[in-house]
Amino acid sequence: MLELRGNEQKTLLALEKLKGKAPVEEIVNESGLAHAAVMRGVLSLTENNLVLIHEQKQTLVSVTEEGSFHAKHELPERRLLNSVEKLGGEAPVTAVVKDSGLEKKFISVALGWLNRKKWATIKQGKLTAIQKPATGADEQLLALLTENSPLVVEKLNPKIQNSISTLKSRGLIEVEEKTNRTLELTEDGWKLVKKGITVQQEVSQLTPELIRTGNWRNVKLRRFDVTAPGPISYPGKIHPVQQIIQQVKEIFLEMGFTEIRGDMVETAFWNFDALFQPQDHPARDMVDTFYLSDPKEGKLPKKSMVDGVCQTHENGWTTGSRGWEYKWSPEEAKKLVLRTHTTATTIRYLTQHQDPPVKVFSVDRVYRNEKLDYKHLAEFHQIEGIIMDRKVTLRDLMGTLKEFYHKLGLEKVQFWPSYFPYTEPSLQSTVFVPELNNWVELCGMGIFRPEVLAPLGVKHPVLAWGGGLERLILLKMGLEDIRLLYKNDLGWIRRNPIYQQ
Ligand code: PHE
Repeated sequence: MLELRGNEQKTLLALEKLKGKAPVEEIVNESGLAHAAVMRGVLSLTENNLVLIHEQKQTLVSVTEEGSFHAKHELPERRLLNSVEKLGGEAPVTAVVKDSGLEKKFISVALGWLNRKKWATIKQGKLTAIQKPATGADEQLLALLTENSPLVVEKLNPKIQNSISTLKSRGLIEVEEKTNRTLELTEDGWKLVKKGITVQQEVSQLTPELIRTGNWRNVKLRRFDVTAPGPISYPGKIHPVQQIIQQVKEIFLEMGFTEIRGDMVETAFWNFDALFQPQDHPARDMVDTFYLSDPKEGKLPKKSMVDGVCQTHENGWTTGSRGWEYKWSPEEAKKLVLRTHTTATTIRYLTQHQDPPVKVFSVDRVYRNEKLDYKHLAEFHQIEGIIMDRKVTLRDLMGTLKEFYHKLGLEKVQFWPSYFPYTEPSLQSTVFVPELNNWVELCGMGIFRPEVLAPLGVKHPVLAWGGGLERLILLKMGLEDIRLLYKNDLGWIRRNPIYQQ
């Protein structure tokens, strides 16, 4: 059985009153329904063959604020021409402008159009009128629009229609497409309204009130159409990089770590020297590291620390190591760099917090002088963590990393021997990514060497690890090009599955 909703019934009744055919706007007036409510009803009314819908596309032209100003005062080129003529058909530009009273902002446009329309010539600062032109189509349209705006373009005469594009590019008018809809009762529709429709009050929401009073028995509850298409909406969402940063931070916090942050500009001392990276280490070359040119240098920490680092690099100092066997330069260590890894931040923190236990992490930005490609960015994020305590071992480090990866949904983890100048032993971890059916390297890690800890006065073992964040995001999002993350291409973001959740 055909069941009509309240707004559909009202639409039919309004149509009956309007003699069976009327534009939607009139139905809105007649029925008291909102425009959207009428349009929602039309869908099922047409499906049930009660109503026909006629659509007619129209182009509307309306005058802008500037356009109506010129319509009142005449176009600026016309004002200049009037003045030239008043001044005898030829006169200096300055005199013409002055006579016309034209505002400064219109002068160059007006001179341009005088020339383009071939109304006058400009030579050696003088304006000479060429002709006394009749009112142009553009002027006519502006005049029409001051009487009545908007106008339907299709109803204007072709000559006037031709002036639309220039007036539009001058910003004097606006053009807009519009679809007019007219509804018409079909034979079935007429039959139905003749039989008589009584509009029944409908309730679209069941309230506690209705239930308590038992009134729900007396009202007609509106059926839900769960298949009706809803409007597409694009509400604001958090950028995928920020989403993962938040997730990683939460995981660290759950695991009992505290967040630390450090400066993006560091001395080479903290970025390299304190980490026992020799001053001729390739990573310190301009190729990998961004050095600051102004200011060039920062401050070194207290002398005992600097001396310790210097001696450890030169001869191993008290650590039992032979060091790197070269002449360490404090000047090189003072240089300012954009930090190339967040280990600069954790090592600096360690020297100021020497009581065990220390469990801190950072998720922050680092910089490397890389050629940009699908795998590399010059500016990216690193995840970094350290644990300092009396009796921590490599097993604790691997266990912690395993737990961290598990919380990220990465179940299979492997550890490989690796090398970093500041850790011994050093490991690299790879995780299995089912979507890629492959193992991927994520974090490097190790236990800080005595050559790192002794000069800084750290007394207990320190477990450290770090790795790129963007790589993790690529894995989680199934992406192959790292640059996509920072293109802010909304189309791509909308298509990406992470946003379809
Ligand atoms: N800093 C290393 C990198 O940038 C990662 C790392 C951190 C390795 C701590 C060992 C210990 O790749």
